[in-house]
Amino acid sequence: MTQIGTPGDIDLSLYPDGTTLDSAGRLLVGGCRVDELVHRYGTPAYLIDEGALRRTARRYLDAFTRRHPRSLVLFAAKSFPSASVIGVVQEEGCGVDTAAAGELALALAAGADPRRMVFHGNAKTDDDIRAALRARVRYIVVDNLDDVERLARLADEPVPVLLRVSPALDAKTHQAMMTGHDASKFGIPSDQVDEVIGIITREPRLDLRGLHAHVGSQLLDLDQFSAAVRALAQFGRFGAYDLGGGLGVRYTSSDHAPSVEDYAQHMVSAVHRHLGEGVELLVEPGRSMVARNGITAYRVVTVKRGARTHVAVDGGMGDNLEVSLYGQPFQPSVIDRSGPTETVDIVGRHCESGDEIAHGITVVQPQVGDLITVPVTGAYCYTMANNYNTALRPPVVFCRDGVARLAVRRETLDDLLRREQLLPPQAPE
Ligand code: LLP
Repeated sequence: MTQIGTPGDIDLSLYPDGTTLDSAGRLLVGGCRVDELVHRYGTPAYLIDEGALRRTARRYLDAFTRRHPRSLVLFAAKSFPSASVIGVVQEEGCGVDTAAAGELALALAAGADPRRMVFHGNAKTDDDIRAALRARVRYIVVDNLDDVERLARLADEPVPVLLRVSPALDAKTHQAMMTGHDASKFGIPSDQVDEVIGIITREPRLDLRGLHAHVGSQLLDLDQFSAAVRALAQFGRFGAYDLGGGLGVRYTSSDHAPSVEDYAQHMVSAVHRHLGEGVELLVEPGRSMVARNGITAYRVVTVKRGARTHVAVDGGMGDNLEVSLYGQPFQPSVIDRSGPTETVDIVGRHCESGDEIAHGITVVQPQVGDLITVPVTGAYCYTMANNYNTALRPPVVFCRDGVARLAVRRETLDDLLRREQLLPPQAPE
């Protein structure tokens, strides 16, 4: 029997909180009609529900500070490195986790307070360290002994630091997102931590305030976080603990993810049990802050029916690498039509077969020109957008209370050409 799909079949629980369908079945994000937004800003486009993002930031802050007043929630800038996004979360009271001099510059441009910033990096150069020292961030997170040497050489006065520890935990997530295991390139392996603490303590230009651990991303099992907290307790008592980010999110209707409140409850009780009630607690959420608050809109360019049905859109791995890098399932919908459904592959416009948005997904039978939205693209998609096949990176549009604002404009061919030196012809060999 032919299934009839309608925009009403969209799982709104994957879309930003507050997303609605009007009486004609049109999708509204942040009170703005998506069909009107794409008319104005084109496709592909990243659409951010600014109000929902603000609410998530406040929820995070409430969840932690209510249970542990000495908490700092630092938004991991890498998950959406735009000054507008950083600006919104910092206005709501979050600090910023930066992991490169560029992220630090964006956070400062967004008006964020360096006293609520940490600076990371497993390969910080002298210039990176100088930038962090100049900004006077709250903590520089020492990842290796070369950081210690650089800080000792470049700092004029004792610098507050945290030490990143690799707690020898195999987090349950994609291998590329495991960061706390024995063979990780991040942090100090657990069997060397005592020795490195000794070295830092003897170094007058470093003021060791605490430890840091981030064991992975897209973690759906809270026990992995408490295991990290437990592991940190073996290295002595400190005044500050930064437990990184990592809370996973739902990408499809069949996923389950802990709420921010459950995560905070779990984390704070582990901290109280193993590290003490008076410590300063920092967390660095990225994905769980932004993922659900952003969607991507595409147009269907061509439909090819054969062994499989390939529905090619005007974006792809140039604006969403999650699928090709990690096999992340997404749940796109055709939003501007009702009709019989069909099981299709939604593919991108780039020159390789791994360029997919969703594989074997049932949607309203797509036609050229249809509007497709992909929810839960707020984290790491903008981050890793690239120019494969000279794709022009999409704009970022903020939607709030029915008003849309352009936060980042679409890249232009001129932007790309501007870097070219257009070398004059030389004599052939
Ligand atoms: N803190 C540190 C030190 C991190 O390395 C990360 C993420 C976070 C916080 C934020 O983690 P989150 O809450 O977002 O899980 N490129 C991958 C994600 C890699 C995450 C890297 N580190 C992706 O596209 O999914």
